[in-house]
Amino acid sequence: MAGNAADPGSAGYWNGEGGRRWLAHMDQTERLLEPLTEALYAAATVVAGEAVLDVGCGGGATSRELARRAGPARRVTGVDVSAPILAVARERSRDLPNLVFETADAADAAAPVRRHDVLVSRFGVMFFADPVAAFANLRHWLVPGGRVAFLCWQSLDRNPWMAVPAGAAFRIVPAPPPPEPGAPGPFAFADADRTLGILERAGFRTPQAVPVRAGMRWADAATALDYVMEMGVLGRALQDQPDAVRSRVREAVGGVLAERTGGDGAVVLDCAAWLVTASA
Ligand SMILES: C[S@@+](CC[C@H](N)C(=O)[O-])C[C@H]1O[C@@H](n2cnc3c(N)ncnc32)[C@H](O)[C@@H]1O
Repeated sequence: MAGNAADPGSAGYWNGEGGRRWLAHMDQTERLLEPLTEALYAAATVVAGEAVLDVGCGGGATSRELARRAGPARRVTGVDVSAPILAVARERSRDLPNLVFETADAADAAAPVRRHDVLVSRFGVMFFADPVAAFANLRHWLVPGGRVAFLCWQSLDRNPWMAVPAGAAFRIVPAPPPPEPGAPGPFAFADADRTLGILERAGFRTPQAVPVRAGMRWADAATALDYVMEMGVLGRALQDQPDAVRSRVREAVGGVLAERTGGDGAVVLDCAAWLVTASA
């Protein structure tokens, strides 16, 4: 994993600006993703005594939850390519002796001697330059018959939490060219048939994708505005824009978020992911 540090398919991105941005909004992101995450745990069906691998584990929220749910009988390994993000994960996980973190590129990291029963990932597997090779490598981290369950985003148009702010902004700044279909990034696995084909070519059996939807909820419009200006499609599109342009965009996006504010002051925008499962 090499390449340009502006590209989420590069280690430089997650160890640099991308990692900084992720950390700055990580607590909020982890809360926003919670409504989707129960479906991931349910699909993984981890039982006591099993070893779990959390790929692209970020700050380790899912790793910790999986480590807590079965107690010390369960061994959990979180793998992430970002040293600064993993430093936070380690700091937050000191009370969990059954959880370890490894700084590695999951695409080509050597499999451990003790393999895992289950691979889970919450939005951490969409960044591989060669996803067939990466998943073929990850298959060696699993015991024969081991299970896979991961979440990945559906397309932008099915994700109003990104599309609504982006639509308002792109009346002011030009929309970046759409990524090549399947290019590493948040929408790499938006085409579920392609994703299932990747898993089959990587040697996995019975891959399936089911849609999962939830509402992303911010306590108020100001919090939602700060978030969408920095994260997702809009965050990346604005990162090199001058302050004057950013403030015009901020005003326009604030307007559409105000329209979406409910009676309790909260802003709720829908999100849509695929929950993908397979066996090794
Ligand atoms: C969108 S974040 C998700 C983080 C975490 N799973 C969560 O839900 O909070 C993607 C994570 O994948 C990691 N990542 C990206 N490419 C990776 C790779 N090739 N190997 C390991 N981790 C990777 C990033 O560093 C980042 O922490």
